Amino acid sequence: MASPVVIALDGPAASGKGTLAQAIASHYGFAYLDTGSLYRGVAYLLLREGEDPWDEAAAAARRFSLEEIAGADIRTREIGAAASVVAAQPAVRKALLDFQRNFARNPPGGAKGAVLDGRDIGTVVCPDATVKFFVIASPEVRALRRFLELRDEKPGLKEADVLADLMERDARDAGRSDAPMTKAPDAELLDTTHMTIEAAFAAARRVIDGVLQRCEG
Ligand code: CDP
Repeated sequence: MASPVVIALDGPAASGKGTLAQAIASHYGFAYLDTGSLYRGVAYLLLREGEDPWDEAAAAARRFSLEEIAGADIRTREIGAAASVVAAQPAVRKALLDFQRNFARNPPGGAKGAVLDGRDIGTVVCPDATVKFFVIASPEVRALRRFLELRDEKPGLKEADVLADLMERDARDAGRSDAPMTKAPDAELLDTTHMTIEAAFAAARRVIDGVLQRCEG
């Protein structure tokens, strides 16, 4: 059996990679894994238990399952910040690695491919991915996008605070020693600052279709 197609999308917070990854997965009929939800999920469980994210994170990551956080609101600012703290721990990353690799190798539901988005998919989790993207946008545009996503849940939220959160998280994600956020040399850079979702999706599709045709031909 042919090995599954793997599409890797990495990039800074709120760069649009999640939306793009879902559109790609649905278009090609591939399975989708938001790897940020694993780190957010571990952070959510720790905060719920009142644990200091540094102390119990590795143990929480080892016993973590997505079922445990089903229905929980893990997209908050607080959980995003705590996720990037726990994500800097090598033991946490190690505990979550097999699940991600297994998802890519054996996409659920018999899908012929998998789409994973995160920070280290093209560099560490799936260095042999079929197609890799590094999705970026200016900090101001990313802050506005995230502000619009969060403001209904959080009246009084300020765009400037969202921007500060994103900058702090990006610095931590790019600066950590284990699997820092960085563009893989063979990743396609996609700057979505001035792109609609449709335009970003069309650009990604052109790249993917080109690679898939070459693989088949
Ligand atoms: O959606 P957003 O871009 O805000 O972030 P996310 O993808 O949900 O990831 C939340 C946090 O998890 C990030 O800031 C990273 O610290 C961490 N993460 C990671 O370290 N490696 C990944 N593959 C995915 C997320």
